[in-house]
Amino acid sequence: MNPPSSRPGMATLWPLCLDAAGLRRVKPRPAASAAGALVRQPGTGWQLQGDWDLAAAELFALYKPLLDWQAGDPPCVLGHLGQSLDGCVATHTGDSCFVTGSDNLVHLHRLRALSDAVLVGAGTVAADNPRLTTRRVAGPHPVRVVLDPSLRAPPEARVFTDDAAPTLLVCDARLGAEAAARHGAGRVLALPGLMGEDGELALAAVVGALHERGLSVLFVEGGGVTISRFLTQGLLDRLHLAVAPVLIGSGRPGVQPPTATWMKQALRPPCRIVRMGPDVLWDLNLRD
Ligand SMILES: NC(=O)c1ccc[n+]([C@@H]2O[C@H](COP(=O)([O-])OP(=O)(O)OC[C@H]3O[C@@H](n4cnc5c(N)ncnc54)[C@H](OP(=O)(O)O)[C@@H]3O)[C@@H](O)[C@H]2O)c1
Repeated sequence: MNPPSSRPGMATLWPLCLDAAGLRRVKPRPAASAAGALVRQPGTGWQLQGDWDLAAAELFALYKPLLDWQAGDPPCVLGHLGQSLDGCVATHTGDSCFVTGSDNLVHLHRLRALSDAVLVGAGTVAADNPRLTTRRVAGPHPVRVVLDPSLRAPPEARVFTDDAAPTLLVCDARLGAEAAARHGAGRVLALPGLMGEDGELALAAVVGALHERGLSVLFVEGGGVTISRFLTQGLLDRLHLAVAPVLIGSGRPGVQPPTATWMKQALRPPCRIVRMGPDVLWDLNLRD
């Protein structure tokens, strides 16, 4: 058995991450000198200083893009999906409790805590009735955003009724009045020309409208359809794909990228892997 590490780990890092997220909108602080610190340097963003344990250092690299966002930067959009080995995010009935293990669920809650807003599709609200709050770690709840082009998310869903955090329902302006009647005008972000003739939402307009409201660090939490559309429309900076050692069979599909005819056309972004308990998380860098 390995001796316990004397190097600082996640218990030290997490409060520093929350502090760094809170400092996103202010000028860089001068580098601190203490070992085991988190410092922001002009040009390179937040960095770990000192000798951290490996698990904390690996996790920090996953959160760094969210921490580094500063006023004046374009929005930062990160997606996450927990998939089975056979590429499903839920069973065919929509049950997804749970695909990945508890380490990955803690990671999800950390992503929520570090983001201005968490986005999900109407299918996830209908199937899961999620809260989308930060409960497994310390940290603020993000604004909750539901993409609901057909107004099928039930008004009694927890995100609309629990008052734990603000919730916005996004739809085309043509449905704005109906959405306001159901959910209250203050909860509706109705955007003109959002829905194309093909029924596809112009997601760049959603990202832009949230950015205008000061919601610039965006975490797209699913489901498979929503993540795939963000990916296909070229809007994800990062995609965290957590692959769990489970086989579901004919379930709800996970990420579906644009189809490649030839292997040379297939998306093969730079990536790193991080072990999360029994799961393997692939951190895909879709920007560089
Ligand atoms: N394992 C995981 O990581 C994870 C995470 C989240 C959810 N889930 C599971 O995933 C399942 C739901 O996923 P899903 O893929 O079926 O649905 P989803 O992605 O949650 O929602 C898809 C719906 O959102 C709307 N939408 C989102 N983006 C759109 C766009 N660009 N253009 C048009 N419409 C858009 C459409 O609504 P309309 O159809 O109403 O037009 C679309 O059908 C549930 O079973 C849930 O439990 C798993």
